[in-house]
Amino acid sequence: MSAAIVAGALVSAGVEAREIVIKFSHVVAENTPKGQGALMFKELAEERLAGKVKVEVYPNSQLYGDAKEMEALALGDVQLIAPSLSKFDRYTKQVQLFDLPFLFDDIAAVDRFQNGPEGRKLLRSMEDKGFIGLGYWHNGMKQISANRPLRSPADAKGLKFRIQASDVLLAQFQALDANPQKMAFSEVYQALQVGTVDGQENTWSNIYSQKFHEVQKHITESNHGIIDYMVVTSTDFWNGLPDDVRSELEAIMEEVTSKVNDLANDINEEAKSNIQKAGTSEIIQLTTEERKAWKEAMAPVWKQFEPEIGAELIAAAEAANG
Ligand code: LMR
Repeated sequence: MSAAIVAGALVSAGVEAREIVIKFSHVVAENTPKGQGALMFKELAEERLAGKVKVEVYPNSQLYGDAKEMEALALGDVQLIAPSLSKFDRYTKQVQLFDLPFLFDDIAAVDRFQNGPEGRKLLRSMEDKGFIGLGYWHNGMKQISANRPLRSPADAKGLKFRIQASDVLLAQFQALDANPQKMAFSEVYQALQVGTVDGQENTWSNIYSQKFHEVQKHITESNHGIIDYMVVTSTDFWNGLPDDVRSELEAIMEEVTSKVNDLANDINEEAKSNIQKAGTSEIIQLTTEERKAWKEAMAPVWKQFEPEIGAELIAAAEAANG
């Protein structure tokens, strides 16, 4: 039983309890939407639950890299994580939805879907595995980069791309006749620098904060997919909290979620403008026709994953484009 749950039990027994320590581990830098969200959560929790809750934030894969964070959560070594929605396919097939290329027109559509009934339901889709989703945090739309200009899907052919641990993303690059390689986020900069991989896909804020633009000559503004997060905790930890603490933390999470989601677009736009200013990478804009060619090249992925994700869920997500 974790220290936090013991502390919770002591509170219910009316004995003076130790502070509940919540370790929040993540893999990105602090100047990103998730990095900012974790810090806001700490600030509000320690202000409103002073003496009851302490939040320790570990950014930059300092405590656990993304291969280990779900296990660490299951073992009670951390209490909060916020992996990208691409990193849950071992636990829930439905969440793979979010990786389908060109599914959402923009982050506003993602937001509408996540806040609708189907999106809310997915937060509970890993309860049988011992995880609960507390909310969705946005990062933004993905861009694709390489040391070769990528204008048409054929330009990606034969290149090695780093991908997150997602079978949908694997299929997406295979559809381009490229060579996808699953790799932890913390290893990407070096892999690009030494040429273990030729390219990658990510949001402006991740590209900028990890300095990928310093080791990639061209970034295509493709907006072909998204990186968003589910903030997750373990059911044992969450249900073991004293009721008053849990409901206050839920309210804080809701407030922080709305703040992060308001800020995410500005953080990405600022990162994009900083990349432009740095002048190390060419930013390639696609014409409508060129973008359509990428969409068509990646389209087979949808049919491939429809049986696992469910046609109805895909339709509900599409409907959010409005
Ligand atoms: C990645 O691995 O590229 C992202 O999921 C990192 C993150 O958490 O934004």
